[in-house]
Amino acid sequence: MRRIYLPLFWKFAISIIIIVAVFGSVNLYLIKVYAGRGIKEETVKRLQFYAEIVATEASLSLSLSDYRHIPDIINSIKQIDSSVAYAMVIPGKNQPVIHNLPDSVTTEMIKANGLKNGSKQLKILRSPEIRDTIILDIAVPIPGLKEGLVRIGLFRASIRSQVWSIIKPLIFMIVIFLIIGIFGALFFSFVITNRVSSIAKITEYFTFQNLKNRNIPVISGTRLLPGFPHIFQVDDELDVLIEKINQMTDRLKKAYADLEKTYARFVQTEKLASIGVLSAGIAHEINNPVAGILNCIHRIKTHPDDTKKNAEYINLIEDAVNKTEKVVGRLLDYSRSPQSTRESLNPGTSIEKALLLVAYRLEKSRISVIKKIPPDIPAILGNRNELEQVFVNLLLNGIDAIDEHALQNFKCDRRITIEVGEKTGSIIIRLTDTGIGMYREQREKIYDPFYTTKDTGKGTGLGLYVVYNIVHSHNGSIYCESQPGEGTTFVLNFDKIGKDTIHHVR
Ligand SMILES: Nc1ncnc2c1ncn2[C@@H]1O[C@H](COP(=O)(O)OP(=O)(O)O)[C@@H](O)[C@H]1O
Ligand SMILES: [Mg+2]
Repeated sequence: MRRIYLPLFWKFAISIIIIVAVFGSVNLYLIKVYAGRGIKEETVKRLQFYAEIVATEASLSLSLSDYRHIPDIINSIKQIDSSVAYAMVIPGKNQPVIHNLPDSVTTEMIKANGLKNGSKQLKILRSPEIRDTIILDIAVPIPGLKEGLVRIGLFRASIRSQVWSIIKPLIFMIVIFLIIGIFGALFFSFVITNRVSSIAKITEYFTFQNLKNRNIPVISGTRLLPGFPHIFQVDDELDVLIEKINQMTDRLKKAYADLEKTYARFVQTEKLASIGVLSAGIAHEINNPVAGILNCIHRIKTHPDDTKKNAEYINLIEDAVNKTEKVVGRLLDYSRSPQSTRESLNPGTSIEKALLLVAYRLEKSRISVIKKIPPDIPAILGNRNELEQVFVNLLLNGIDAIDEHALQNFKCDRRITIEVGEKTGSIIIRLTDTGIGMYREQREKIYDPFYTTKDTGKGTGLGLYVVYNIVHSHNGSIYCESQPGEGTTFVLNFDKIGKDTIHHVR
C-alpha cells in the first residue's frame, strides 16, 4: 500500500471545498430549475398579455379600417418592455403586414409562426433579422378578423438574464464561503498542525543518545497572538497532550538518570567481583618477591658487616619491590573507576593488559593462549579502563567455561585463541575458548543482568551485561557463537579511526 503525506491544512481545505461545492451546486441547480421554470411561465403569460392587447387594439382599428394607430401600439409595447424583440399585425391574406422589424424582413419570418387550429401558438425561432437571436414567438388571433393574427417576439435571452440575476448573488455567496472556508482551514491547521508537528518533532528526540546528553527540549503550545498580553489561556485537548508529553519526558529523564546510576553501580559491583577473583593471582605473584625480600633482610641482619654482599642483597630487594609494585599497580589501575574520556588506542594493548591480570588463573587452569594480534592494527576510539574490563570479563568467562569442561572431560583442550583483524572500516576481535559451550536458550540470555549459571559467590551474572553496554557505548557490536561441548567464540566489532596505527605495548 502506498502512503501519501497530506498536511492537515490540505485535508481541511479539501473537505471544506468539497462540502461548499456540493451544497452550492445542488442549490444552484435547484434554484436554476425552479426559478427558470417560474420566470419562463411568467414571461409567456406576459407575452400573451401583450399580444392580446395588441390584438384587441388591432381588431378595433382594423374594423374601422384605420391602420394608423397600429404602428404606435406596436412601438409602445416595445418601449414598455425592452425584452420585446418585435410585434407584427398580420391582417390576412394579401393584406400588408404591419411590423417593427427591419425592412429586410423575409416572408419566411412572417410565416414562421401562425395560429394553431385558430388559437394561440408559442414557438421558439431564430430571427436572422435581429442578429440571429433566439426568439420566443407567440401568435394570437385578432378577435373578429378571420385570418388576422398578431405575433409578438421576445428575446429568449431575457429569461436567462433574469435567472442569472437571481443566481448571481448565490454564486457570490458560494465564493465567499469558499474563501472563508479556506481561511478557516488555514486557521485550524495553524492552531492544530503547529502543535501536532511540534509533538511529532519531540518524539524524534526520544533516543538513548539524547536522554544521555539530557537533550530533550520541552514542547511549548502555540500562542495565537504572540506578544499580545494574555489575561487568560484557552487550553484544548492538544495542550493537555503537550503537557502530558512534557511530564512523560520529565519522568523518562529521571528514569534514565536512575538507570545510569544503577548501571554505574552494576559496573562497579561487577568490577569488585572480578577484582576478588584477580587478587588471588596478585597475592600469588607477589608471594615470591616478598619471600625473596624477607630472605635478603634475614641475610643482611645475620651478616651486617659484609657490605659487599649486602649491597647485592639491597639491589635484589629493590628489584623485588619494583616487581611487587608493578603487580599491585596493575590491579590498582584496573580497579580505578573509569573516567569517561575517550582516546585513540590500540585494542591489542588492552588485551595484553587483561591477559596479565588473568595470567595466574590461566596458569592454574593450565590454559594455553594463542594470540594472533598484528602489531600494526589501526586505532579505535575508546576508554582504556572500560575496554580492559571487557577483555578481563571475557577471559574469565572463557577460563570458567574451560574449567567446567575439564570437570566433564579431563582430556579436553584447554585453549583460548585471541585474534585481532581488520575489515573495511572496522576492527574485529575474536575470542575463542574450548570451554563447555552454550545451548541456544542459554545464549539468548547471557547479556541479561544477573543471568548466571555459576554458583553463588562465583558468578554475579553482570559480566556480559556490562561488556555488552561498554561495547555498545563504543558504537561497537558483540555477538556470540557457541557449540555445547565444543567451545564459544565472542566476536567484537569496533569502528577504526583513520589510518593511524598505535603499536601495542607489552
Ligand atoms: N565463554 C563462555 N562459555 C560458556 N558459557 C559462557 C561463556 N561466557 C558466558 N557464559 C555464560 O553466560 C553466563 C553469564 O555470564 P556473565 O554475565 O559473565 O556472568 P557470570 O560470569 O558472573 O556468570 C555465565 O554464567 C555462563 O553461563
Ligand atoms: Mg563473567
